[in-house]
Order: sequence, then structure tokens, then C-alpha cells
Amino acid sequence: MLVSNRGPVTFEADGSVSRGGGGLVTALTGLASHREVVWVASAMTEHDAAAAARNGQRPFEVRSPSGGTYLVRLVESDPDAYDRFYNIFANPMLWFIQHYLWDLSNAPDIRRNEIEAFEFGYNVVNEDLARVVVDEIADVEQPVVMVHDYHLYTLPELVRRARPDAFLHHFIHIPWTQPDAWRVLPARIRQELYAGLLANDIIGFHTNAYRRNFMQCCQDLVAAEVDWKRSVVHWDGREVWVRAYPLPIDHAATRASSQSPRVGELEAELRRRRRDFMILRVDRADLSKNVLRGFSAFDLFLEQHPEFSERVTFVAQLMPSRTDVPEYAEYLERIEALVAVVNHRHGTPDWMPIQLKLRDDLEEALASYKHYDVLLVNAMFDGMNLVAKEGPLLNENAGVSILSENTGAHDELGEFALSVNPFDIQELADSIHAALTMERPERARRLAGLRAIVTARDPGDWIDEQIADIGAKAKANAR
Ligand code: G6P
Repeated sequence: MLVSNRGPVTFEADGSVSRGGGGLVTALTGLASHREVVWVASAMTEHDAAAAARNGQRPFEVRSPSGGTYLVRLVESDPDAYDRFYNIFANPMLWFIQHYLWDLSNAPDIRRNEIEAFEFGYNVVNEDLARVVVDEIADVEQPVVMVHDYHLYTLPELVRRARPDAFLHHFIHIPWTQPDAWRVLPARIRQELYAGLLANDIIGFHTNAYRRNFMQCCQDLVAAEVDWKRSVVHWDGREVWVRAYPLPIDHAATRASSQSPRVGELEAELRRRRRDFMILRVDRADLSKNVLRGFSAFDLFLEQHPEFSERVTFVAQLMPSRTDVPEYAEYLERIEALVAVVNHRHGTPDWMPIQLKLRDDLEEALASYKHYDVLLVNAMFDGMNLVAKEGPLLNENAGVSILSENTGAHDELGEFALSVNPFDIQELADSIHAALTMERPERARRLAGLRAIVTARDPGDWIDEQIADIGAKAKANAR
């Protein structure tokens, strides 16, 4: 069984479904449709809730527009509790802590609003989902429950209490930051979050750095005993294994999706409009993605290299995200304002330097992946970043990757990318220049290196590594 806040699909007003965005859904969709699992997720919209009601609050089958059939059970929470859970506590509070996004001299203020968002929002949604998980595993002996991400840190303890025999495995798709980043939270809340999470048997991360940070946090913030050699945290008389499982992309499925007729039409359109060079970024419009510094670097590049005027377009495909969170809404406004400034400063009557596409269109992204000269992934911090893997898989143009050293993907891909410090705008501008002037054979060599890495494993391997550890830990538990 799988549990996450976002499920594989979201329902629209007319009953049709669209695919959930973000790395978690990309990771799990291959997996859940291959195996016989129930995917328990939050009903995130009123249409999701209506679909859950139509199906008698039981698991039901859905077909995702990107392929695959899933058995989902959507869980509705009180709308006010859900709003506090999603828009105040999970985002921005936890998300910002786990990406070092708080500007601490200004924010966050912890007031009643934030405390209540934890108590009457985060905890309520975790309880709602936990109750359904316990119900779903009622007739299963020694069930295995796979919990996903930062929305559900208090759920494992609730399930553990009801079902001490359950095997609980939690994968965290975002970075784990160092202990001090967590100190903005009141100690009591920190304690509850860590106690909730440490009810798991295994906790998985994308990288070893996050794994180490997590263990350091357990030691410093909640005085847990940590066995660094075995990568184990002792808690409540149990062992919690802490492991790194870097997430691969489903390269076969991604390639298949990239061959649809619509992708072909979009490619033709791209070819018609393209200049000598195309720089591409594809992201959720999230503060962690560092969109503004990307545009500032392009601005600087054009200023320092006027010979590229009218020869290069920066295509930025950004999916609006979490727009009810004020920080995100404001970020979108700043993005649009900066694009206007850069386009005004460098544009000519028939050339717009930055083409901003504020929409969620997977096929458009796939089409663009094939033709970029430069793929820009400059996130400040990012758990993995799957765009950094999908781009090189599909690129047919010896495209160069510029990759932030603070992404999980950099651990694997750094050797063949141009690595950048995401805060260093001059370095980024220099990297754009280096990429656009690089000899073709060197570009091709790098792309081949990246492609070999991203096709070496797939999500089946990722899940098999976790299942192997689940088997080993279950055996150890039985002793
Ligand atoms: C990241 C998180 C996921 C989340 C996704 C999209 O990838 O790790 O848990 O689902 O962003 O964000 P959203 O808030 O739209 O679910």
C-alpha cells in the first residue's frame, strides 16, 4: 500500500482527470500501476472529494492521461483543516525549512496561526489518512505500508500504534536540511514530527547527504541514539534504518510518451520558431527552483555577449504551483516582472529573448527536451530533480546541461554537466556562454555520458532496492 498527499490524478469539474504534477507522482506512477497496490491519497480538490463520494469512499480504478491504471482511495478532510495543512504547515513551513528558503530576519513568525495549522491542520489530515490506512490493512497480516514525503510525518506513529505488526517504510522526496534549519519550529512540534517519523522501520532519502543530515537532526534535536556505522537511529526500543535510494526516471515510459502525435506537432512549431540556440528550463514555479537568478544570469550573459543578440531564446516552461500560498503567488508576479524587464532591455522588434510559458503541459516539455541546446537546472536546493534526467534522455541536439550542485541529481550527473553554484549569477552567465560556444563533439560526449547514467536504472530497480531492505529489516525485526 502507498500513502501520499498527492495521488496520481486530480479530478476536473467535468469528471475527467489530469495527472498530478511533481516528482513524487512521476516516481510512483510507474510503480503503482505495475504492482497490485492501493494508493491512498488526499482528496485535494472538491472534485476529488466528489469522485471519492461517487465511489462510496472505497478504492476505485482510475486511468491516468499519461497511461497506467491505478487503484486509488481518496480521503477527504475538513476543508479548513486541509487548507491549514497544505497552505500553511506543509507549504510553506516544512517545504521552506527543508529547502533553506526562509529569510530568517523577516520570516517565519510563529504565532497562533502557525501552531494551530499544525494542531488542527497537519495533524488532522495525518489522522484522516492514518485511519484509512489502518482500515485498508485490517485484513492483511504483516502489511507493508509505504509512506511518501513531508506531508505525512506524523502518520507513521498513528499507524504503528494501531498496528504494531505493520512494516512502515517512508520515502522523503525532498532534501533533509541540517539541524539549525529546524530550530524555527517550536521544540514541541519538532518533537512530534520526529517522533511520528521515527515510528517507521526504514526512512529513505535520495542522497547520502540528506541521510546524514537526518541522523544528525535525530541526535541533536530529539536526543536519539544514532549508530552512524550502521546508519541506524534507535528510538522507542526499536531500530530505524536510514538509507539512500536515488530515484531513477522511467526512461522507457518517458521515451514512449515523447512519441505521441501531439509532441510531433509541438516539435514542428518549436523548429519553426527557433533561433540559432535554445536555452530551456522546465520547473514548477517554486521558490526553490531559483527561477529569478536564472533570468538574471541570462540578462548578464546578453549584456556581456551582445554578439548573441537575436540568436538565442530562453524558453521557460513553468507550471504555476501552490498558488494559494502567498509566497508562491508573489513569486509568480516577480517572475513575470523580471521577464518583462529582461525582454524590454534586450529585445528587438522581432526577437523576444525570454519566452515564458506559464502552464502545465507535459507534452510541450517533452517536445522541448528534444531540441534544446542548453538545459538549465539551477535550483537552490532540490531533493532530486527529474528534469535533469528527462532532458538528456530525450535530447537530439547534443544539448548541454547546466546543473546546480545542490540538486540530488548532481551526485549522479555532475561529471557530465556544467556544475554551477546556484547563487553565483556570474558563474551561471559564464556557463551559458561556455555551453553555447562548446564544440559539438564535446557537447555530444557529455550528452552521451548523461544518457548512459539516466538509462542505467529505472524505478523498478529503485523499488527493488527498497523491497530488499524491507525483507532484511523484517527478518531482523522477527529475531
Ligand atoms: C514535490 C514534492 C511532492 C509534491 C510535488 C508537487 O515534488 O516532493 O510531494 O507532490 O512537489 O507539489 P504539490 O504541492 O502540487 O503536490
